[in-house]
Amino acid sequence: MQYGYFDDAAKEYVITRADTPLPWINYLGSDGFFSLISNTCGGYSFYKDAKLRRITRFRYNNVPHDEGGRCFYVCDGDTVWSPAFLPAKTALDFYRCRHGLGYSVFEGNKNGVAASLTVTVPMHTDMEVQKLVLKNESGAEKKLTVYGVSEWCLWNAVDDSTNFQRNWNIGEVEIEGGTVYHKTEYRERRNHYAFYSVNAPIDGFDTDRDTFLGRFRGWSEPQAVENRTSFMSVAAGWAPIAALRLSLTLAPGESKTLLFRLGYVENPEDRKFESLNIINKEKAHAMLAAFDTEAQFDAALDALKTYWTSLLSRFTVQSSEEKLDRMVNIWNQYQCMVTFNMSRSASYYESGTGRGMGFRDSCQDLLGFVHLIPERARERIIDIASIQFADGSTYHQYQPLTKRGNADVGSGFNDDPLWLIACTCAYIRETGDFSILDEPTPFNNEAGTEVPLMEHLRRSLRYTVEHRGPHGLPLIGRADWNDCLNLNCFSRTPGESFQTCSNFKSGKAESVFIAGMFVKYGKEYAALCDRIGLSEEATDVRASVEEIEQATLKFGWDGEWFRRAYDAFERPIGSRENDEGKIFIEPQGFCVMAGIGGPEYGRRALASTEALLGNEFGIEVLHPCYTEYHDYLGEISSYPPGYKENGSVFCHNNPWITLAYCTVKDGNGAFGLYKRNAPAYIEDKSEIHRTEPYCYSQTIAGRDAKTYGEAKNAWLTGTAAWSFVAVSQGILGIRPDYNGLIVDPCLPDTMDGYRLSRLFRGTRYDVTVRRGEQKGLIVNGKPVPGNTVPLTDAPVCYVELTV
Ligand code: BGC
Ligand code: NOJ
Repeated sequence: MQYGYFDDAAKEYVITRADTPLPWINYLGSDGFFSLISNTCGGYSFYKDAKLRRITRFRYNNVPHDEGGRCFYVCDGDTVWSPAFLPAKTALDFYRCRHGLGYSVFEGNKNGVAASLTVTVPMHTDMEVQKLVLKNESGAEKKLTVYGVSEWCLWNAVDDSTNFQRNWNIGEVEIEGGTVYHKTEYRERRNHYAFYSVNAPIDGFDTDRDTFLGRFRGWSEPQAVENRTSFMSVAAGWAPIAALRLSLTLAPGESKTLLFRLGYVENPEDRKFESLNIINKEKAHAMLAAFDTEAQFDAALDALKTYWTSLLSRFTVQSSEEKLDRMVNIWNQYQCMVTFNMSRSASYYESGTGRGMGFRDSCQDLLGFVHLIPERARERIIDIASIQFADGSTYHQYQPLTKRGNADVGSGFNDDPLWLIACTCAYIRETGDFSILDEPTPFNNEAGTEVPLMEHLRRSLRYTVEHRGPHGLPLIGRADWNDCLNLNCFSRTPGESFQTCSNFKSGKAESVFIAGMFVKYGKEYAALCDRIGLSEEATDVRASVEEIEQATLKFGWDGEWFRRAYDAFERPIGSRENDEGKIFIEPQGFCVMAGIGGPEYGRRALASTEALLGNEFGIEVLHPCYTEYHDYLGEISSYPPGYKENGSVFCHNNPWITLAYCTVKDGNGAFGLYKRNAPAYIEDKSEIHRTEPYCYSQTIAGRDAKTYGEAKNAWLTGTAAWSFVAVSQGILGIRPDYNGLIVDPCLPDTMDGYRLSRLFRGTRYDVTVRRGEQKGLIVNGKPVPGNTVPLTDAPVCYVELTV
């Protein structure tokens, strides 16, 4: 069943009913000011950091979920309704939500009034602008009372939801015309404020939430709205809001447009005030003036659309697979931008208060993003590397505002360092910018410790080489990619973090997954060394790779698949010797991609993977699921069977298998898996899948779950980047390389070919792949040996390949 449809021409997903199984959200903003917005206009905004600069409030555990956010009320006679259905919950005569790239449009009609609400964060603006058009489609005059409301968050989202003894005393606002300024803590140590404003004279306001709502009432039925009035309340502590009221008279056929603006401003320390404790509002005035007319808004929305069209034109494909094209050309790349911006911080599942930017997460996000805005990828790589320690280990996370490593979580995730090699090599292959390797980059952000980025990469590798266990395989530390395989944790204390506790100093538990990573990225590092003239180092690294590859063949191969790990007692995990957790997905993906054991082992591992882990939504993370808790395994066995790391389809690692299929040249296997969980392909199962059909979710409950097929944790997952890599570099086979663009498709029998346009190092490659007698690569009409299209200065390069 579907709750909407894709409109590819408009690059929108059109939701046709408000009662989607879960809030289906979108992201607005791409640099400083960000908003989350659901299909009923819920959500919240923040500036750069969802924990430290939360602008509007959101209650994650609220019932109903997603109430609040942007509240609009239209009062027409006895009826009060909201253009996006919530919060008024009045049944609408017509409802539609169109989520586009960086904007959302809500259309709601009631009793002859048509509302159209378009919300976006214009580029280069720290402001969300909400354009509300109300049209009288009835035959009689309409006298409407309209409210637009925002609820402020007191900046630090954690403090805001915990420290009430203080917070209920400090809330402050200023009111100036149709603008409410939120200035809690501005008098003292903050230099930033927010505002909510409308571009027309208001008839009243409220800034104290409880006055506006009234006792015993929620957002669906504020007292002020019921009375068609405003109490002109001025917040003094408690919960400051901005509720603006306007009266509109519309003749039949007439429409009026209002622009509501939610902005964020920082002032220099010496220019904070205009007079004693009164905000200097110059910047806000300028921002409001820039978005005071419909024409200004429309121009900004057009500019945003043009921007996205040009960004996405860097990679577009036309094939016989409409859904693949839709994912590649629009939604997968869009999600890559969102994961790049958010890492795992703010979604409807990630509260924005816990994890900031993940080290491994952000490194992997870059793999699917680097072709879009390479300059931002470069900056991010340096930020990430700057939280590494001198011994090559690294903080696991950092806070986006401060860019400092997060000491609460610390380090010890032994896969982390190697991901830095993955993303740096990807960046250089994309851009040819070897100069990044010389970029002075500190350890642990300490000034004076800067070394060239290349040295960070070197230490990453060395860290793995020097931290190996009894079988010569890399030590797992707190956990590797699978945060929940905590082989040194042995936790028996409720509430103790599985990720940060280490109650057993065995120094023995090893990861076959990290071994696979090391072989793959060690080879990439050696190739990089060759490129920059470090041939001796390349030789040394290849020797280490060979050693770990041999250890993997000897101790990591179980007979029909790769083992997962060795526990603290040197017993294998992910082996036929185990009763549960006999096989895990991760090493099958990485060891096969790394070429360990060649195509022969690869094919066998993949056959086992499909047979034991495959379901109709993809490949489960392990099998059989753990039915009991085992302290020597940690969090993985804490999840009920079929959920999360205990046997769901953990979507992030499915593309590794897709790529593994491509490694052994099995196009049917690759595409067969790709289709099973690519959102557009399962759109018609939305009532089962439940999350948004236009983005990947982290998990889809496995066969052992009580809700098999149900997805959770939409949006912020490494699945976005890896799926893009799998489909673009694996299935379609377009891979940037140091000296050219590799064209090496791995298509299923059902696809006859494709036409593709790829911007690479300033040249637009126009690639046509078709089936037929193999003639090799034809570049601008001339045959070229191998599968690499050499670099060129020409603006366009035509490439043909017959497969
Ligand atoms: C989750 C993981 C997540 C980790 C982060 C675990 O509880 O299952 O998916 O990465 O927490 O802290
Ligand atoms: C989610 C985390 O963000 C990611 O870093 C981790 O690899 C997966 N969970 C698997 O546990």
